[in-house]
Amino acid sequence: MNVTRENFWENIDEWSDPDGEDTGELQVLPSHSFHHQILEEAKTFDGWSHTFDGKYFSEELRYNLTTISGATMDRWPYLLETHFSKDRNEKTEENGIAEDEEMDYWWTVPQEKDFPTVYKFMEYFPRFKNPVMTKLGAGHQLLPHDHGPAKQFLYNMAINEPEGTRTAIYPRGEITVKPGDVYKLDVHNLHAVKNGNETRYHILFQGGRY
Ligand SMILES: [Fe+2]
Repeated sequence: MNVTRENFWENIDEWSDPDGEDTGELQVLPSHSFHHQILEEAKTFDGWSHTFDGKYFSEELRYNLTTISGATMDRWPYLLETHFSKDRNEKTEENGIAEDEEMDYWWTVPQEKDFPTVYKFMEYFPRFKNPVMTKLGAGHQLLPHDHGPAKQFLYNMAINEPEGTRTAIYPRGEITVKPGDVYKLDVHNLHAVKNGNETRYHILFQGGRY
């Protein structure tokens, strides 16, 4: 069946293929002790940038966001228009992540002074680099979207996972996300999040192209 932004959640039972290929893989890490402390650091931190304030993002945030799954900085103007501005247009209708103008979604590049445990984690697992942290309000969602047609991936670590959260990616379907786990996600495929009953924190790390 043809899976679109419009029928993604409605038809999920029909298109889900948990045993298929190209579904992203779970990285099981030998230590799960980092995320508790990172969660405390994230709750204390108050320097978040709102998702619609893309024109004020730091250079580092713009860079880490744009290159997270292997794009070059040429893509930034498209991302600014589609994900990181309040104005809605054809592009946001096609592939934007915000349901409406009230979206409670925030970003930061964690710095060592505020997030020492993120840096300990990256020292321990050097494959994870160029982090971007996200904060999504209770009950808010990221609409189904992809990161472009080229085959590409990124790493996503859950810092917490509020009760009732639903995360899904084509073609696997819904994934059970546990805090501390890292998923390698094939983000050329449609993916989406419906957050549960608390603020949700995740960290993205740089992946690339296949
Ligand atoms: Fe995404």
